Amino acid sequence: MTAIQTRKLGKTYTAKLTRKVVALKGLDLEVKRGEIFGFLGPNGAGKSTTIQLLMNLIRPTTGEASVLGRPVTEASSRRNLGYLPENPNYYGYLNARELLEMVGKIHGLESGEIRRRSKDILELLGLPSEKRRTISGFSKGMMQRVGLAQAIFHDPEVIILDEPMSGLDPPGRKLVGDLMLKLRDQGRTIFFSTHILHDVEVICDRIGIITNGQLRFCGSLAEVISESFSSYEVALRRVSSEQVKTLQDKGFSPKTFEDKVKVEVPKDEIAAFVDTFVDQDTELAAIEPQRFTLEDFFMGFVDLDPHSSD
Ligand SMILES: Nc1ncnc2c1ncn2[C@@H]1O[C@H](COP(=O)(O)OP(=O)(O)OP(=O)(O)O)[C@@H](O)[C@H]1O
Ligand SMILES: [Mg+2]
Repeated sequence: MTAIQTRKLGKTYTAKLTRKVVALKGLDLEVKRGEIFGFLGPNGAGKSTTIQLLMNLIRPTTGEASVLGRPVTEASSRRNLGYLPENPNYYGYLNARELLEMVGKIHGLESGEIRRRSKDILELLGLPSEKRRTISGFSKGMMQRVGLAQAIFHDPEVIILDEPMSGLDPPGRKLVGDLMLKLRDQGRTIFFSTHILHDVEVICDRIGIITNGQLRFCGSLAEVISESFSSYEVALRRVSSEQVKTLQDKGFSPKTFEDKVKVEVPKDEIAAFVDTFVDQDTELAAIEPQRFTLEDFFMGFVDLDPHSSD
């Protein structure tokens, strides 16, 4: 059974005074059980729209979606589901413990269990446990942390997080990343949206890239990163001007940085290059694989002019 599935899922927003916005176009997506799936896309790509459709907070214009085999239109699809919204906002007069107590009761947990879990989760996420610290006085990062706490409080099988790292400091991001990996290792499924590519590289099993409401790529990170390594950057020291000229004649584009000359060399030419250009006089300072990063891959899909498709 898949954790999340969408078929031809689409959403067009219509409002009286504004023109129609086609936010999502025929999304076919499958998130497997037990994986961490990162949903990447620039601002306005359709990530939150997709997530709100999965949570049945808005209705689709086309298509359908299911969670753990149940249509999202059935309330039972949310029994085993945790959700962190894009802008978490809870009753300001509650403290963190009271919010979790409310969430626990909604999910039918017993009071002993609620007490135990609250203590553990507040501690884990570094949230205040004092009664007088109510949510109205929480900072952005604390709001995010309490949002995460309520999303995972009932130990759901599927967890949907809309930008979980937003507003978190570096230790907070590390903490949440580690928590996501731990939950995955316990068999939970996590589907989250983000712009932070580093977090995706560290955490995700698979990714989807969405731009302008369309899924442009869906696959494993290994597919993206390992296949894309095609050249080395070679740094040489003590390169004579004749050698620079020879490099140029052979079609290379040597660039001088302080005492080094740097040259990009295709992967399959590296051995011949070193044989030819490194001798007693010329020192080989470094050879670094020019890895195609997730950022390069992502930017390949992103239209840098947001108005060009209007
Ligand atoms: N309630 C709404 N009414 C009209 N248009 C909307 C509404 N919500 C979103 N949109 C539009 O739908 C498109 C997708 O928005 P969405 O919030 O899904 O993007 P996103 O990928 O989550 O972006 P971000 O990274 O900024 O959070 C955008 O063009 C946005 O302006
Ligand atoms: Mg969003």
